[in-house]
Amino acid sequence: MEDQGTLSTAAPEETRAIGQALGSHAQAGAMLALIGPLGAGKTELAKGVAEGLGVTSVVNSPTFVLMNEHVGRLRLFHIDAYRLDDPEEAVAAGLFDDRQAAGVAVVEWADRLAERLPAERLELTLVPEADGSDRRHISWRALGTAHLRLAGDALLEP
Ligand SMILES: Nc1ncnc2c1ncn2[C@@H]1O[C@H](COP(=O)(O)OP(=O)(O)OP(=O)(O)O)[C@@H](O)[C@H]1O
Ligand SMILES: [Mg+2]
Repeated sequence: MEDQGTLSTAAPEETRAIGQALGSHAQAGAMLALIGPLGAGKTELAKGVAEGLGVTSVVNSPTFVLMNEHVGRLRLFHIDAYRLDDPEEAVAAGLFDDRQAAGVAVVEWADRLAERLPAERLELTLVPEADGSDRRHISWRALGTAHLRLAGDALLEP
């Protein structure tokens, strides 16, 4: 499917600000699927989402657990699919559960879950500039009306 929009950031703070806008506008059930290579800025964006949700606990890559949970205006479920040996098994074991419908989920390495991802989501793909600079190109596509609205509110407004 075609991307629906592209943003570009020149510093970590700018990527965070995108996350913050998403966190501020997110409604219960929001699913943010982050795709991009090591060091692309997925966790930076997740930290911004946490800020936007009013989360006060520290957000780090949940590298050694499947999911971290943070309390905010809505609960933040932070998932990292990087180390999943068997995405199918992880999903069968409850990687996505009903509680996420009442909160906001951010999934790093979402592409590793492929078709196991919830159908309704906002996908953000972070691509570092090839010259090794701090520039990141962030393209997005929304699946489902709720996520289309979220993208409109958070990513299109000036
Ligand atoms: N424009 C930018 N946006 C985001 N991060 C940037 C940017 N420019 C530089 N950086 C740096 O790139 C790194 C991004 O790290 P981050 O942990 O967010 O990546 P990640 O995609 O989560 O990687 P991993 O796959 O290891 O989880 C940070 O050190 C950050 O300071
Ligand atoms: Mg990360």
